[in-house]
Amino acid sequence: MSQKLLEDPDCRITIIDDLSNQNSKKRINHLPPAIAFYKEDIRNRQAISDIVKREGAHACVHLAAKISVVDSIRNPAETIDVNVNGTLSVLEACANNGVQTFVLASSAAVYGDADVVPTPEECVLHPLSPYGATKISGEVLVASYKKSGKISNAVSLRFFNAYGRGQSPEYAGVITRFTERLSKKQPPVIHGDGQQTRDFIHVSDVVGGVILAVNSELSGEFNVGTGKPTSIDHLARKMIRIHGLDVAPVYGAAIKGDILHSCADTKKSEKALRFVAHQDLETALRMSFGQRGLVAT
Ligand SMILES: NC(=O)c1ccc[n+]([C@@H]2O[C@H](COP(=O)([O-])OP(=O)(O)OC[C@H]3O[C@@H](n4cnc5c(N)ncnc54)[C@H](O)[C@@H]3O)[C@@H](O)[C@H]2O)c1
Repeated sequence: MSQKLLEDPDCRITIIDDLSNQNSKKRINHLPPAIAFYKEDIRNRQAISDIVKREGAHACVHLAAKISVVDSIRNPAETIDVNVNGTLSVLEACANNGVQTFVLASSAAVYGDADVVPTPEECVLHPLSPYGATKISGEVLVASYKKSGKISNAVSLRFFNAYGRGQSPEYAGVITRFTERLSKKQPPVIHGDGQQTRDFIHVSDVVGGVILAVNSELSGEFNVGTGKPTSIDHLARKMIRIHGLDVAPVYGAAIKGDILHSCADTKKSEKALRFVAHQDLETALRMSFGQRGLVAT
C-alpha cells in the first residue's frame, strides 16, 4: 500500500507497527527510504499521539490488528485489547491532532454466517469469533467519532479474503496452504466437500479501495470484495492446473463452524466509493506462479 501511495508526489507516509507479526519484520526491511517508520504498540496512547502530532498527518489508515481468528478464539483478551483498545488509542490520537480522515481495516468476519449472500453492508452481523466481534467494535467506535464531530470522514472497509504478495498466512490461508503442497508436488487438502465459497480479492484491489476511501469525503461501512464467489474445490483444481500437475484434491474432515459461503455485495461500494475490483483470480495466480513459483509470502 505504501508503495502505491508514494506514487502521489504530495503524499508523505508514516508507518507505525510494533512488528509483533513475524511477516511485518521482513516487510519493514524493504521499506522505501521516503517512509518514516516508528516501532510502537498502538495501545501506547501517549506515544501514538506524539507521533501523529509530530508527523502532522491528514489521514490515518488503521491496519494494525491481531488478525488470527483461531488465536482470537484461544485468547480473546489479547485480540480485544489490540483491536478495540488499540483502535480507540489511534482514534484519540487522530481526533486530538487534527486528522481529518480515518479509514479502518474491518473485515468480512463481521458478517459471520450471513443471512444473505452476496452480503450487503446493512445485513445483520453474526460474527463467529472474537476477532469478528472486535472488528464490529472498531467500526462502531469509528462511526461514533464521526457522529460526535471528532473525525470528519470516518470509513470502515470490510475486506473479504485478500491474497497476494506480502500477505500474512492467516488470511487466504487456503491459497498459501495449497501453494505449499503443490510446490512439493503434493495434492491440495480440502476440508469438507470443497463446495464452500469465498470472495478472493487481490491485494492491489484492496489497496485501490483504501486509496479511494482516503481521498473521499465519505463516512460509513463499505465492502471491499469482488462480488465473485469461488468454491474451494474450484480453486484447488485451478491451482493444480496452473502448476501443471496431474493430481486430484484430497478431501479431509470439514472444519467445525466453517462458514459455508462468503461473498461481497459490491453495489454500495461501487456506487458511493466508485470501487471496482479489477484483478482476475486466475490471472493473478498465473502471474504469481510465473514470477515466484507461486510462493505466497
Ligand atoms: N488480509 C486479509 O485478507 C484481511 C481480511 C480482512 C481484514 N483484514 C484486516 O486488514 C488489516 C491488515 O491485515 P494484514 O493481512 O495485512 O495483516 P498483518 O498481520 O500483515 O498486518 C497487521 C499488522 O499489525 C501489526 N500489529 C499487531 N498488533 C499491533 C500493536 N499492538 N501495535 C502496533 N502494531 C501491531 C502487526 O505487526 C502487523 O504488521 C488488519 O486490520 C486485518 O484485520 C485483512
